[in-house]
Amino acid sequence: MSSGFLALSYLIGSVSFIMGLKMLSHPETARKGNLYAGMGMTLAIFATIFLYKDSDGNPLGNYLWIFGGLAIGTVLGNYAAKKVEMTAMPQMVSLFNGMGGACAAIISVVEFNHILHLGKDFTEDPAMTLVILAGLVIGTISFTGSMIAFGKLNGNLQDRVIPLQQVINIGLMLFILILAVMLTFGLGTIPPQTLMYLLLALSVLYGVLFVMPIGGADMPVVISLLNSFTGIAAAFGGFLYDNSVMLTGGILVGSAGTVLTVLMCKAMNRSLLNVIVGSFGGNAAGSGQVASGGNYKEVSLTDAAVLMMYSKKVIIVPGYGLAVAQAQHICHELEKVLDHNGVEVKYAIHPVAGRMPGHMNVLLAEADVSYDKLIDMEEINPEFAQTDVVLVLGANDVVNPAAKSDPSSPIYGMPILDVEDASHVIVNKRSMKPGYAGIENDLFFRPKTSMLFGDAKDALTKLVAEIKSLA
Ligand code: TAP
Repeated sequence: MSSGFLALSYLIGSVSFIMGLKMLSHPETARKGNLYAGMGMTLAIFATIFLYKDSDGNPLGNYLWIFGGLAIGTVLGNYAAKKVEMTAMPQMVSLFNGMGGACAAIISVVEFNHILHLGKDFTEDPAMTLVILAGLVIGTISFTGSMIAFGKLNGNLQDRVIPLQQVINIGLMLFILILAVMLTFGLGTIPPQTLMYLLLALSVLYGVLFVMPIGGADMPVVISLLNSFTGIAAAFGGFLYDNSVMLTGGILVGSAGTVLTVLMCKAMNRSLLNVIVGSFGGNAAGSGQVASGGNYKEVSLTDAAVLMMYSKKVIIVPGYGLAVAQAQHICHELEKVLDHNGVEVKYAIHPVAGRMPGHMNVLLAEADVSYDKLIDMEEINPEFAQTDVVLVLGANDVVNPAAKSDPSSPIYGMPILDVEDASHVIVNKRSMKPGYAGIENDLFFRPKTSMLFGDAKDALTKLVAEIKSLA
């Protein structure tokens, strides 16, 4: 009887994961989607705790440990999610993802030792042994890799290029594979438990060495990749326990992480291999290199205000700097003031503007900007030609024309926002320093472009005040 309810709960849980994931693909439904998937997970957890029975009909027990763990996780998770700044979101995702990888690895260690304790031979069921070892290796790599990614994004760790790093990594991976084959087929004389802990240690090392040299600003792509690793490791746990909801959840996370990784690479026009071995862009803070591309002109706040106020159409291009400055609310204020004065205002959203997928959508949604004003790149690009003023706010690479015209540029081929088609381009940033890709932007030196220097929040606050004084 209880096994029927358990299966039903798992089915409902799985369906809610799929529905939740679907809803996450649109900002308007994303919040609800998160809630649906969370409810599905809660149902799956409590159904397992109260309805699961082993082959002898015994329930789980160990309630103090289970509820103790749940209480600690709930308090910490709730606190962290509420406290985190939008700009620190990638770190938090990395930390949480690492925990998932660690769980999958611990499941494998526990099950391995359980089989040993029962006195069974690992060669009896090679498929099961491989499933345990795959969960162990992939989960551990995801855990240590995520911790290194967290350290880099949090500014605790620097990028380190290790000599012969690729050769060492390939050698380590081969070594891991050889040990796994030895354990699965009973080759050699090393005791299975020693082999398993050796595999664990090598996977820890591999996770560290794999992520350590990758450019700090490439971390969102790596986190997405590690996220898919955690999903795959969890799916192996699902196989191991013959648990359908764990299997479905793992596969969904694994495939969503893989799709996201591919999409991010595509939107940056880079291959995954280039991200992994490329050391592109340096730390998230930017390389600090100052532009030397020629003369640029500045615009005063008053002139910028007049220009925008007497425009018919203004397009705002938000970028990473807007997020850093936390200027989303004042940006929305600017939109409302212009709108109030009869100016049509839209936002142009580049797929990789900012530092994580959907960064700008989430940021602007937080400031109550209406979703129908957020226009994707393909749709907005033809509109620039009929636009009077484009206001670029803390964006750089996503408006760099070199992506279209300079085959030697590292971002060549990356689709960009065609802001140059507009009559005027005003660029707000603090200096002439480059963005994530560490390269100069010729847009800043073109005749239609004027620079409005300053922190985005500060500059927008003054701009809004100027426009209000004109109205
Ligand atoms: P970036 O090219 O990084 O440019 C951001 C600009 O903001 C910088 O040039 C910086 O110039 C300015 N800035 C920083 N703080 C500011 C502040 N307080 N006020 C005003 N401006 C400020 O950003 P983007 O155009 O959004 O492009 C995103 C880049 O990240 C792309 O190259 C993309 O490939 C990469 N990336 C994105 C993702 C995802 S999924 N979004 C993932 C990985 C990598 P100053 O220092 O002069 O102020």
